[in-house]
Amino acid sequence: MTLDTAFRLGPASIFPPADRHVYLDAASVGLSHKGGAAAISAWQYALAEEGTIAFDEQAEVECLDNLNAATARLFNATVDDIAVASSETVLMQSLAWAVMPEAGSKIIATDITHPSTIYPWIRVADHTGASVHWVRADETQSIDPDALEAAIDDATSVVCLSQVEYGTGQKYDLKRFAEKAHRHGAILVVDATQAAGQVPVDAATGVDAVATSTYKWLCGPFGTGMMYVSPKLQELTPGILGWRSHKDMWDFQADRLELPGNAKRYEFGTMAYGTAFGATESIRHLLETGIDKVVAHNRRISKHLIAGLNALGAEVLGPKSDADRSATVAARFPGKNSRDFAKTLKDANVIASLRRDFIRFSPHYYNNIDDIDRGLSAIEAAL
Ligand SMILES: Cc1ncc(COP(=O)(O)O)c(C=O)c1O
Repeated sequence: MTLDTAFRLGPASIFPPADRHVYLDAASVGLSHKGGAAAISAWQYALAEEGTIAFDEQAEVECLDNLNAATARLFNATVDDIAVASSETVLMQSLAWAVMPEAGSKIIATDITHPSTIYPWIRVADHTGASVHWVRADETQSIDPDALEAAIDDATSVVCLSQVEYGTGQKYDLKRFAEKAHRHGAILVVDATQAAGQVPVDAATGVDAVATSTYKWLCGPFGTGMMYVSPKLQELTPGILGWRSHKDMWDFQADRLELPGNAKRYEFGTMAYGTAFGATESIRHLLETGIDKVVAHNRRISKHLIAGLNALGAEVLGPKSDADRSATVAARFPGKNSRDFAKTLKDANVIASLRRDFIRFSPHYYNNIDDIDRGLSAIEAAL
């Protein structure tokens, strides 16, 4: 074993399970940043000990500020353009009701997208009379980006993409689809839950909105989501409103509502606030490490994984071109039932996920080449 193959960019001191398991499951639930978990507990215990003495009204106003700031850096946006709530689904739902795509218009989505990316838009489309136009994947579960681009036309109101597909890890060029959408008077809304933390998510691409949860590649907790909202969409009335929606949340006058003049209008109520402190820690660590370094590290280990899977005769799904890949790798094993095979791997301490009829491996910055070799040995033994 050389030092190089043992190198973890996210150290085991912060991610202890990385040393105990072959944990290749960030696309399901990433390992949690230990300092983030401690921050959540500290906040919760302070509340248990002191109630509003530890968490007063001013603290409740300011408690999301650090997460807003960290997310702004993560998305290359300004803090005014960021809202925080409890999950990607909730924020996307609020946005979909704000946008309300008009009757007869088309919402473009891929048929391998995650339900939480598109269900909010299906719900609103059912109400308004818009409809979803599905761009279909081929037999390798790959989407042709040219076909996706060609589907966007003058009847399109919304292009709704998961920046990285949850199953195969295919990633999309946001600038390309933002430009095409805008040429036709449509908007591009993006679910970055499978992207944020493993590839750059850049608001400067012209994307109109980006929502993410924190418990996957951001190595944060369940219970937090963030959304970038472009200035244009900050003029809309969010689909979900609550007491935090008023520009002075302690106003408490129910017969008047003045929304903040920025993305904060999409923050509507209480949440498990402590999770925001945990998410801030884990995002800061990724930013300090450098997303470009994470990309390079993850690419090296996922390429090693793909080469090893190919050598073992596995069918690797998703895009052929390396440029369209993230660290997520989906594979089928000829002659093997994927459900049984995933269980066999788990028994061998290789943690991956069954998705549809394939196994999804999702190594992250706390993994090393040795993990991949251990995983490949377990696969070889099981075959
Ligand atoms: C692309 C994508 N969006 C959303 C989610 C889940 O959303 P939420 O955290 O809001 O439940 C997942 C979970 O697998 C996902 O892969």
